[in-house]
Amino acid sequence: MKKTYSNPASITVGVVGYGGAFNMGRQHLKEMQAAGMTPTAVVEIDPARLAVAREDFPGIETYGSVDEMLAKSSVELVTVITPHNTHAALGLQIAAAGRHCVLEKPMAVTTAECDAMIAAAEAAGVVVSTYHNRHWDGWILKANELFKAGVLGDIVRIDLRMGTHSRPGDWWRSSRSISGGVLYDWGVHLLEYSLQLITSPVTEVSGYAWNGYWAAQPDSKWGADTNEDEAQATVRFASGQRVNLIVTHLDAAAERGFMKIVGTKATHLIEWPGAETTTGKGDGKFTTERAPNPKSEGHKFYENIVAHLTKGEALIITGEWARRPIHILDVAAQSAKAGRALPVKYA
Ligand SMILES: NC(=O)c1ccc[n+]([C@@H]2O[C@H](COP(=O)([O-])OP(=O)(O)OC[C@H]3O[C@@H](n4cnc5c(N)ncnc54)[C@H](O)[C@@H]3O)[C@@H](O)[C@H]2O)c1
Repeated sequence: MKKTYSNPASITVGVVGYGGAFNMGRQHLKEMQAAGMTPTAVVEIDPARLAVAREDFPGIETYGSVDEMLAKSSVELVTVITPHNTHAALGLQIAAAGRHCVLEKPMAVTTAECDAMIAAAEAAGVVVSTYHNRHWDGWILKANELFKAGVLGDIVRIDLRMGTHSRPGDWWRSSRSISGGVLYDWGVHLLEYSLQLITSPVTEVSGYAWNGYWAAQPDSKWGADTNEDEAQATVRFASGQRVNLIVTHLDAAAERGFMKIVGTKATHLIEWPGAETTTGKGDGKFTTERAPNPKSEGHKFYENIVAHLTKGEALIITGEWARRPIHILDVAAQSAKAGRALPVKYA
């Protein structure tokens, strides 16, 4: 039985990680507050960032470790906003302590880690979810609308790509052991978009990876632990549909757009400022309609969490949903190592 609440304000909330790269800790607490919940606690191992949290939210409880927070605070829901390789241990600890837990994306690095957190949350009667705020990005809302209206026809394949010829940054995102690999940052968002449009079960994943070019550069921050220079996951669905995800630091002549949906009636290409839908009739002539991307509605993530905890509305980003892209990436990494496609039993 999950714990429920009579009103949003009675849900006290905290974050683990108040990093400076994108000020995500502040963004989360502000969004949680806007959804009606009560910012209560911040955990950070960096005292300078804890000081920023105290300035942003005067009077908020601050802690140097999750252990200390769990021992001293009654906070009810905790969001983990730390580097990827730390998500699972922190999530397990929070759920086992009977607190609802949201993980920033990616939920974790391996399928086993996701399964362990889902089981721990189930046992403790709490929610485990992942902050897939981009589930509500304007461009994917629009693509879903076009698909449902029949404009695209049946979806045949989705091509997802990010990156160009570029030196990996010095931040932890470029470390394979910390980030999980080059596909784990944007790749998780891109796969999550695609799984909204292709609902058939995944049957097979083929992973490819190229390593060593950037790792061998004299100014390489992470050396042998540098992410893959380029990696790819090709996902086969029971329906015959496929998704092809590439994240690269090598391609000096990258194609336009980051998501191309090829349908039987039209191809929809999404770029940062807008998207274009190109329709053909089989006679070699094409019509292209361009439109700016609609506004994103990422605030709906915490609104849904609140509606779930106060009114029992269905949770949109369940642990099982967030596990799907991780399972694809986990199998893709194993496949790249094995040098062959691997079957997928449940995803
Ligand atoms: N959904 C999105 O659009 C979006 C955008 C940016 C980042 N993210 C995700 O947010 C997470 C964090 O990324 P970031 O850019 O904020 O990183 P960051 O490096 O700016 O911040 C991470 C913070 O976590 C702290 N930290 C690390 N281990 C800790 C621990 N055990 N306890 C407490 N604090 C700890 C660090 O001191 C650091 O301040 C990642 O999972 C990333 O993918 C998501």
